[in-house]
Amino acid sequence: MSLRIPEDFTLGAATAAYQIEGAAREGGRTASIWDTFSHTPGRTLDGDTGDVAADHYHRLDTDLDLMAHLGLDAYRFSIAWPRVQPGGHGALNPAGIAFYSRLVDGLLARGIAPVATLYHWDLPQELEDAGGWPQRETAVRFAEYAARTVEVLGDRVAIWTTLNEPWCSAFLGYGSGAHAPGRADGASALAAMHHLNLAHGLAVPEIRRAARNSPQVSTTLNFHVARPADQDADDAARRIDALANRSFTGPILDDRYPDDLVRDTAGVTDWAFVEDHDLALIAQPIDLLGVNYYSTVTVRDSDGRAPRAAADGHRAGAGSPWPGSEHVEFLPQPGPLTDMGWNIAPEALEELLLRLAAEHPGMPLLVTENGAAFRDDPIAGHVLDPERGDYIVSHLAATVRARTAGADVRGYFAWSLLDNFEWGYGYSKRFGIVRVDYDTQERIVKDSGRRYAELIRSRIIPS
Ligand code: FCB
Repeated sequence: MSLRIPEDFTLGAATAAYQIEGAAREGGRTASIWDTFSHTPGRTLDGDTGDVAADHYHRLDTDLDLMAHLGLDAYRFSIAWPRVQPGGHGALNPAGIAFYSRLVDGLLARGIAPVATLYHWDLPQELEDAGGWPQRETAVRFAEYAARTVEVLGDRVAIWTTLNEPWCSAFLGYGSGAHAPGRADGASALAAMHHLNLAHGLAVPEIRRAARNSPQVSTTLNFHVARPADQDADDAARRIDALANRSFTGPILDDRYPDDLVRDTAGVTDWAFVEDHDLALIAQPIDLLGVNYYSTVTVRDSDGRAPRAAADGHRAGAGSPWPGSEHVEFLPQPGPLTDMGWNIAPEALEELLLRLAAEHPGMPLLVTENGAAFRDDPIAGHVLDPERGDYIVSHLAATVRARTAGADVRGYFAWSLLDNFEWGYGYSKRFGIVRVDYDTQERIVKDSGRRYAELIRSRIIPS
């Protein structure tokens, strides 16, 4: 049976600044932790960096025209903190603001709603040098950056998102070290988690105060759907759910850290980083919860076996992203798998959205990222990528089904508009619905992009 996509359901595509912009040392931009990290030998595959990426900074008009050609209702992008506030404090950089202002105006001129994320992992290096996210002051700096940025762009942006996937910032950045800044210390990761939550909570009222068009304010989390491998594995699944998901939904939506999370991590940290009024500051009302979903994980207690590295879907680092639960083992997933090695499970997205709707009644949801890496090559100017197209169609269908079943899901954003710098994997993984030739910077709309455009046009998902 074909599915009808409701008229008021937003269909968009997403990117992030460091992954596409390039122009890393232009227009007054200073280094972020990802510049430092990617320029450190051995940190990214083949030593790839975001110096040039998809050169979006210089190809803004071309890319805006592409979005219009696809018929996107909305475009989710991120603002590079070190481009608009070099060094992470003080006055804004006019050249940086001018770039995002042109982007927003270009979107509005094409009838595309701007959805802006304030932080997609590119912390100004100076703030890392001062201690980074394990330091409370970084949250204060973030709220100031958010306020100043919304003061200048806050008459035109439809949705503001504070943070993208703070789990990755905290636990891959400071726990496993697979992401920038590449530290590997469980206690620092948990402190970072709390200060990211605090950064979100301090920024929300600043955004509302500074905006002049009553935008929706949100945050975006990457939910882990953890399945127990067998009947003895419920505790392993509970631990991963606590560390990955409830560590953020707890304080942001329910005013508290889960007791089991505090208990599981008691051997790692004393939680002294949580000060008296922090939980009230974090639990600000938000208008939307952003959901990024790609795949599931299957876990069990390793019971003394050496836990397998990196089968949790993330690149291995020197440390563990699961402080206090290092003994949880991630089992290889049955196929089909994407080029990331991630399993394809659209039904788990439907289940996740319904679970979130049940646990947080009244909280509108937005799928802010979903998509797949596959190898693809142009043949005579065409890119045939049926797997990516099927992935997007099946997950969009799962999203629409969740909505029909009662979850208040407002839209879906494909990751990603363009092939881009996939963090530790560099340019080896292609997620775009538009292909980027990194030698010539030529863009080719892939077959998946054409299929997505047709879905947007017809608002029918064929059976
Ligand atoms: C998410 C990130 C995004 C992209 C996708 C594949 O974790 O938010 O930047 O790398 O994964």
